[in-house]
Amino acid sequence: MRYEFTNNWFGNVDEKIWTQLLPQINPEKMLETGCFEGRATTHLVEKSVWSDQCEIFCVDTWDGGLENKIRGVNMSKVEERFEHNVALAQKQRTDAPKVNKLKGLSHQLLPRLLADGHENSFDFIYVDGSHQSPDVLIDAVLSFLLCKTGGVIGFDDYSWFDPAYEVKDIVNCPKLAIDSFINVYFRKIDIIRTPNAQM
Ligand SMILES: C[S@@+](CC[C@H](N)C(=O)[O-])C[C@H]1O[C@@H](n2cnc3c(N)ncnc32)[C@H](O)[C@@H]1O
Repeated sequence: MRYEFTNNWFGNVDEKIWTQLLPQINPEKMLETGCFEGRATTHLVEKSVWSDQCEIFCVDTWDGGLENKIRGVNMSKVEERFEHNVALAQKQRTDAPKVNKLKGLSHQLLPRLLADGHENSFDFIYVDGSHQSPDVLIDAVLSFLLCKTGGVIGFDDYSWFDPAYEVKDIVNCPKLAIDSFINVYFRKIDIIRTPNAQM
């Protein structure tokens, strides 16, 4: 059996950054918002150093973001591929972490995690769901509440914009939301800048 990926949004750069970052965090409890076919999830399952308490919470609609819809990306098999890929990654380790799949909109599921007692508990949170600024801002604030003191939140696509639009629309990009979050929370957070992020 082989992994079934149709995209590599996670990419070599992200993989390099994670390879350096994750051993410094040694995360036991992780949350990924926006999982698609599980490229980043399988990386976490394969490469992280685990204790027997490790688990990953995976939030996605498996229905695609606005940019997927504009391009008519066929999402019908994406969830199936996610399940296949994650199961395959788990099979490769006897000490594989538990993967909790949560299907739905992040602005509905992250508050549910808070209500279920997961506040201030995640070591590592990866935000890679909707790329629309209002959604990214909600994901950022909820992730802050879910992240434990000293934990790390990673935002994907800081400098992404949708080339489908002739004029760059800042509300259609994560950057405005990430900058706003950083500005409002500057007394509560430290920033780890990664080499490919352009400020
Ligand atoms: C760029 S892809 C994620 C890529 C993934 N992290 C990887 O490693 O390949 C974005 C994903 O976010 C999901 N998504 C978009 N908006 C969402 C929302 N509001 N709530 C939950 N998931 C969402 C889409 O269905 C899509 O699978």
